[in-house]
Amino acid sequence: MSSIKIQKICCIGAGYVGGPTMSVIADKCPDLEIRVVDINKERIDAWNDSDLNKLPIFEPGLDRIISRTRGRNLFFSTEMEKSISDADMIFISVNTPTKTKGLGAGQASDLSWVEASARQVAKYAKGHTIVIEKSTLPVRTAQAIKEILKTTDKETQKNEISKTFSVLSNPEFLAEGTAINDLEKPDRVLIGGEDSDSIDALVKIYLNWVPYEQIICTNLWSSELSKLAANAFLAQRISSINSISAFCEATGADVQEVAKAIGTDKRIGNQFLSAGPGFGGSCFKKDILNLVYLSGYFGLPEVANYWNQVVVLNTWQQDRIYKIVLEKLFGTVNGKNIAILGFSFKANTNDTRESPAIRISSDLLEEGAILSIYDPKVTFERIEEDFEKFSFNNQGIWKMANSIPEALKNVDAVLILTAWDEFFGLDWNYLASLMRSPAWVFDTRSVVNRQEIDNTGVNLWKLGAVSYTHLRAHETVLDVVCRLLLEKK
Ligand code: UDX
Ligand code: UDX
Repeated sequence: MSSIKIQKICCIGAGYVGGPTMSVIADKCPDLEIRVVDINKERIDAWNDSDLNKLPIFEPGLDRIISRTRGRNLFFSTEMEKSISDADMIFISVNTPTKTKGLGAGQASDLSWVEASARQVAKYAKGHTIVIEKSTLPVRTAQAIKEILKTTDKETQKNEISKTFSVLSNPEFLAEGTAINDLEKPDRVLIGGEDSDSIDALVKIYLNWVPYEQIICTNLWSSELSKLAANAFLAQRISSINSISAFCEATGADVQEVAKAIGTDKRIGNQFLSAGPGFGGSCFKKDILNLVYLSGYFGLPEVANYWNQVVVLNTWQQDRIYKIVLEKLFGTVNGKNIAILGFSFKANTNDTRESPAIRISSDLLEEGAILSIYDPKVTFERIEEDFEKFSFNNQGIWKMANSIPEALKNVDAVLILTAWDEFFGLDWNYLASLMRSPAWVFDTRSVVNRQEIDNTGVNLWKLGAVSYTHLRAHETVLDVVCRLLLEKK
């Protein structure tokens, strides 16, 4: 076991990854003192708010852990210098968005924040420090971090007798909405590095709650690439099932039935086979584009094209949904009222990064629709910021609704984009009475049952299934398919 004793940890970046990850480590290792630092003071103030409803991120179970660790062995602050210099181990968990300008714009990751963090570590660290990449990074970034750590400024060199570093990669596999469970019961913990003493020091921390067999140690580059590859494989499954959803709509098959049928094959497995409006979140698109960029860089254009298609299909799925709404509403939504149920990129998070709702809503607004948006956790300010960033020619008007009935009042259509629990089992008899006829429900997340909508007079379009208005009295879905095929001839 490691000869390095870890007592104090610092994490740079108090975001969706840094916050929950450090909270769980603090909870599982009461003997460690953990400081989470961030340049954003407002965010740190929110982490320190006595009202746990005001934590900067919503994550089921997080408030419970914060209430027992914060102030005990978990601290949030903006005090970068002292937190770094006191630490034996530093996690870098800052954001790495896709570059918007310069070489690799639109594909490569912007590593400015990682570089800035590494420079601060180089400047303030004392003694031996283990530096850990938590952010998802392009393969071989660890090398760049190592280079930066070697170059401490002259002033520091003068005063310091010895300052040494070892760099590890320890990518995070948590999914938002289930982050606490994913951290407490991870499928695996991945640690990449070259220095076995430092690896052991990190392994020892995880052994407080993760079985030894689930801790995988690899070389640095395998660890970095595994994170990109895992996200690319997951996203690829979603694009695959989404491509099949369009096929189902065209042929009369039902995507849920198909997903069940193929998912029972153990080799395929049943996870990540829910068709929907496309994947969102801060990772999938960014990581695939990164893989595409790196494949091109390393002279592998076929590999680049292969992965790029996963992103192309994802955007196509969102465009397709918007066009279907338009088509069903007689080719125009100008001046029509449409309710959007769910704006976060998935249920159980207030995160909207890359949410399909942004593109779909923007397209509808550009066509002149009037949107009333309801989401149990996403704020007005967040949506306003998302629309501003997603520059488009906004012709429409949007407002927030405080409840589902408020959102549906007088609307011509409702578009369900996130599978929040409260959208299941709604009283469609009552809700239909609030809507304007002929009313449409566009369900992209399979939250509505056909039976719930029966006799309400509402039309139902369900992603990956036959459109409900096609059904005539006493017809089965099979009858409809045969009739549609005959009609097509
Ligand atoms: C994480 C990972 O780090 C990223 O690589 C992964 O792909 C997505 O998840 P996340 O925690 O979701 O990022 O990002 P975010 O919620 O934006 O948090 C990052 C935090 O770092 C922000 O609060 C930001 O203020 C902070 N930051 C950024 C610093 O403290 N210092 C910097 O120099 C830059
Ligand atoms: C993902 C990875 O799962 C996680 O391991 C990594 O660390 C970060 O990126 P996250 O983006 O938080 O996590 O959520 P995830 O549950 O993977 O969902 C991503 C997107 O895919 C969401 O928009 C979700 O709605 C969509 N999705 C997921 C589907 O459309 N269908 C599915 O079957 C699963």
